[in-house]
Amino acid sequence: MDKIIINGPCRLEGEVEIAGAKNAIVAILPAAMLVDGVCRIENVPKISDVENICNILSAMGAAVRRVEEKTLEVDCSSVRCSEVPYEFARKFRASYYFLGALLGRFHTATVAMPGGCHLGARPIDQHVKAFEQLGATVEIKHGNVHCRADRLTASGIYLDMVSVGATINAMLAAVKAEGLTVIENVAKEPHIVDVANFLNSMGANIRGAGTDVIKIQGVSRLQGGSYAVIPDQIEAGTYMAAAAATGGRVLIKNIIPKHLECISAKLEEMGVSITEYDDSILVDATAPLKKTNVKTMPYPGFPTDMQPQMCTVMLRAEGISKINESIWDSRFKYTEELTRMNAVISVAGKVATVEGGHQLLGAPVRACDLRAGAAMVIAGLMAQGTTVIEEIDHIRRGYEQIVEKFAALGADIRLVSD
Ligand code: EPU
Repeated sequence: MDKIIINGPCRLEGEVEIAGAKNAIVAILPAAMLVDGVCRIENVPKISDVENICNILSAMGAAVRRVEEKTLEVDCSSVRCSEVPYEFARKFRASYYFLGALLGRFHTATVAMPGGCHLGARPIDQHVKAFEQLGATVEIKHGNVHCRADRLTASGIYLDMVSVGATINAMLAAVKAEGLTVIENVAKEPHIVDVANFLNSMGANIRGAGTDVIKIQGVSRLQGGSYAVIPDQIEAGTYMAAAAATGGRVLIKNIIPKHLECISAKLEEMGVSITEYDDSILVDATAPLKKTNVKTMPYPGFPTDMQPQMCTVMLRAEGISKINESIWDSRFKYTEELTRMNAVISVAGKVATVEGGHQLLGAPVRACDLRAGAAMVIAGLMAQGTTVIEEIDHIRRGYEQIVEKFAALGADIRLVSD
């Protein structure tokens, strides 16, 4: 098993380039199933979730070509299969986007129940409800989700809770349904807007993405085209947090500052200086940090996917900070790993209390999930001595060249393969 080894502490300094958004591309690639012709997709991050989806597309008969370092061409015209088997689906959560995409294209889809990070219960009842509202029957049997419809007809869909996955899946299934579908109480994350923009650039008619209501006028056909994925909000936020946690000064490039406002505001509250430019942001955290409280919320609130990284920033601030996790039931497992590094954190239900100001000490730790893994890397940069991070496949799912990027910012960090 590969490991990341970090000798700390260090103060990050320099520039880092942010990759395309993981949570957009993991939906855009399955969405290519709905398109007749070649989709040229630019700014594709080099992460293992993308490799996994490309493997699924190829195994189903799509032509997938990497034409430039960050550009893929995907042509799903010759796909005849509407099934994603367990061996592929178990590797990542977003495999459920094949349900909406295949249902939209073939009116039938079978996808094994998805895998992904363990963050507590991850029901898909809202995805199922959206498909049923569009006229499909859905059955979950022997670990597979089967969807089938004679025809997909437009409908009003009201989501019971704000769900990124259900919003995107409803869009994918409705884009070619007959008539006008109205989806209410939708998620507003930047990657929702990006998936809608991708589909629109291929000929779909989706309005309102980024607001509470999305309206989709069904079209009979989507044709090939070219599209560039937005920068990754959470990767950018992770480097912002890393700069803040190490008292560093880092210019974060290729970003959309508006998408980072929820993170910038919190860091500024803690005493970090943030300077926004057109497509970059300078994080200067050389001043001491103040404690704060964070509650995770759907966008534009503070993202749950930044919660573990923000915890490391709190560890540098004097005093007691609190985190209230309102999205996932079980997203504090990583705090046990931080405690092994001399952090003082207690968890009661959905609230973590973080006592800052204690010097972290290097230790062997594991990446419990993707964002927990990012937090372990930041903690390793802050800690005195050597930190060895195991189970780093989680990190590879969503962070492109994390070792190289931190090394370029001055960290003593390396990847070791057994
Ligand atoms: N929920 C339901 N029923 C559903 C769907 C969701 O009860 O049918 C609940 C969930 O249990 C959760 C809440 O609604 O409590 C929100 O879940 P959501 O559906 O928004 O999450 P997701 O689509 O499964 C995506 C990201 C996650 C991110 C969440 C929240 C992808 C592939 N994953 O998951 O990202 O935490 O939205 O923003 O887009 C990550 O990148 O590390 C990651 C875990």
